[in-house]
Amino acid sequence: MVRFAEEHELDRVNELRKQVNDLHVAGKPEIFKPGFSKELADHIHTVWNDPEQEIVVNERSGVICGFAILHHIRKPENPFMREREYLDVDEFCVDETYRRTGAATELITFIRDVAKERGFDRIELNMWEFNQEALAFYEAVGFTTYRRYLEMKL
Ligand SMILES: CC(C)(COP(=O)(O)OP(=O)(O)OC[C@H]1O[C@@H](n2cnc3c(N)ncnc32)[C@H](O)[C@@H]1OP(=O)(O)O)[C@@H](O)C(=O)NCCC(=O)NCCS
Repeated sequence: MVRFAEEHELDRVNELRKQVNDLHVAGKPEIFKPGFSKELADHIHTVWNDPEQEIVVNERSGVICGFAILHHIRKPENPFMREREYLDVDEFCVDETYRRTGAATELITFIRDVAKERGFDRIELNMWEFNQEALAFYEAVGFTTYRRYLEMKL
């Protein structure tokens, strides 16, 4: 069942956040710091206390098997761009033992429904290019790439 998280579940959410961090460290060690610092762990409480952010969890038989952080973004108009408002999926993970069982698809279905009910016309997320498994998932559920970051290693 996908629903919004309860505060006592944040430690479990952090176990999943550590899985994402470890993946990022392995894939982009020149950018991500290894380990899971207290600051990184405590960040979940900042998210919890921010009215513009929400934590969604997927619970199966009493176990939190996946989570997402939703961030309501408002970008004011500027000389180049129109005003924009959307729901950003800031962090996203399914526990490795639950992968390929549809848990992430259930999370995205819930997030889409919430976004539509609230009148948003799009959800957005960003990801690291090395993470081709995540890209395969996001494309499987209907996301398309609309912008890219490029680098040249020197
Ligand atoms: C990416 C991730 C969220 C997918 O979660 P999941 O619960 O396994 O995804 P689902 O079971 O809902 O998969 C739905 C479809 O997406 C595609 N898909 C999912 N994982 C895939 C993979 N590793 N390789 C290729 N396609 C994949 C498939 O089409 C799959 O359907 P199928 O299993 O019937 O073939 C999960 O692998 C994960 O948490 N990874 C580590 C953290 C991460 O990368 N987070 C996102 C970036 S921050």
